[in-house]
Amino acid sequence: GNNIVVAIDGYSSCGKSTLAKALAKKLNYIYVDSGAMYRAVTLYFLRNNIDLNDHDSIEQALKNIHLNFHSRDYESHITLNDEEVSEEIRQMPVSTNVSPVSALKEVRREMVKQQQRMGRSKNIVMDGRDIGTAVFPNASLKLFMTADPKVRAERRYKEIHTKNPEVTLAEVFENIAQRDYADTTRAESPLVRADDAVILDNTNLTPEQQLQFALDRITPLL
Ligand code: C5P
Repeated sequence: GNNIVVAIDGYSSCGKSTLAKALAKKLNYIYVDSGAMYRAVTLYFLRNNIDLNDHDSIEQALKNIHLNFHSRDYESHITLNDEEVSEEIRQMPVSTNVSPVSALKEVRREMVKQQQRMGRSKNIVMDGRDIGTAVFPNASLKLFMTADPKVRAERRYKEIHTKNPEVTLAEVFENIAQRDYADTTRAESPLVRADDAVILDNTNLTPEQQLQFALDRITPLL
């Protein structure tokens, strides 16, 4: 179509969603947090004790899962079967289980289908791991974000710490490292930079500088 799709991929806790939200707000586009979808599916699997080796129950579970985004001032709010789960999906139980769930091909097939539908006719910014490679290989602009792992862990720790003072920096660092490893080595659409994605290393960049970097690349295309 003639709609603009911006695909933002990269490692865990790189600030993808911060940039994606700022960009969507600036351009008045829809923001879609694809990671929230995998996290919500993971929450459902945990609550219902879905066996990751049982393909029939995975298929059945996917039929029972209904996800919806409610965009309030560009914060992504997601509901799982009409329940607001935006907070719960950021906690450690989901964070430590999301990579194996998102590695399942049945899960990816269904999420990709829903994501492609969202980007069919609207201007959107979507962030994730496979947006520029699998979901929108013809995206108008692809960014691949990276940052020093220590810096990423510190940023995420600050975010989590206020609500969960018992979580340690070491735990957060470990979770990020494990997800990066799992996400880059899985068989089904692993995290990899698309050939035509622009690398954005934000270790030493402010959110404003990152937004400017993206705007400088999208403006000529509009
Ligand atoms: O983006 P976020 O860190 O919330 O994503 C959580 C997890 O969901 C990732 O570690 C990855 O395992 C999975 N994911 C994915 N593909 C996407 C987005 C997220 O596999 N497009």
